[in-house]
Amino acid sequence: MLSQYLKKGLLSAIIITGITGLSGIVVASGARPEVMEGASASMLANSCAGCHGQNGASNGPAIPSIAGLSSQYFIETMTEFKSGKLPATVMDRIARGFSARQIRLMADYFSAQPFIRAKQKFDPKTIAVGATLHQKYCEKCHNNAGQMAEDDTGILGGQWTPYLAATMQDYLSGRREMTKKMRDKVERLMDARGDEGLKLLLNFYASQQ
Ligand code: HEC
Ligand code: HEC
Repeated sequence: MLSQYLKKGLLSAIIITGITGLSGIVVASGARPEVMEGASASMLANSCAGCHGQNGASNGPAIPSIAGLSSQYFIETMTEFKSGKLPATVMDRIARGFSARQIRLMADYFSAQPFIRAKQKFDPKTIAVGATLHQKYCEKCHNNAGQMAEDDTGILGGQWTPYLAATMQDYLSGRREMTKKMRDKVERLMDARGDEGLKLLLNFYASQQ
């Protein structure tokens, strides 16, 4: 699939090293807007499949699944990648290749795909503690164990743990900005339970399969 695009010259291969703990993977980017302008939503979405999996269900733990995200969250995120507001290893460059109209088309397309929960390891013994922490600090905005797209805050339950861990590091280091209300809760969690609390939460999200 990827090689087919490479042959057509729609995508150019680049080597990225160090995506959130991976030592190095070969990825593709750079869909050219002039080539893609008339493309259908599924054609546009195909150019994401090399990294985000077929229909947005990612197979790579450092890369988030994007199927089933709310279209509002999707549009906001892509727009902020484009402007450089959101920290990114590759998505800033990729998002800049798409117009607002194309981003809306892809948002409709991906939000209509089912979110496939990642098959990943977790420790069954600590799920209950993690669930309590989630309930106390996160559930208010990340409903239904963080599985609900309609609250426009991304998906936590069933998302890949390495991606979530890297994202939390971005938030905690200030690279990615939190809303004030989320920051209050995250700070309270970190004061009360520290890194261990974060691990328990991530384990709880991983257990949603
Ligand atoms: C080269 C691999 C790669 C390609 C191709 C790619 N992505 Fe990404 N995507 C990532 C990575 C890695 C992240 C995490 C942010 C970062 O590090 O840039 C991400 C994050 C995202 C997010 C944020 C998800 C969230 O939960 O906040 C969205 C939305 C997204 N990508 C959409 C797309 C779309 C749409 C395309 C196709 C036009 C695409 N991506 C192509 C690697 C890729
Ligand atoms: C007051 C509402 C609120 C609370 C409470 C909250 N969040 Fe969020 N969260 C948001 C919003 C809004 C976003 C959307 C993106 C952004 O603002 O960065 C978000 C996004 C996220 C993301 C990024 C998802 C992605 O796909 O990239 C993660 C991870 C996250 N929150 C974790 C947490 C955790 C863990 C807690 C509890 C300790 C929590 N949040 C509590 C509002 C909240």
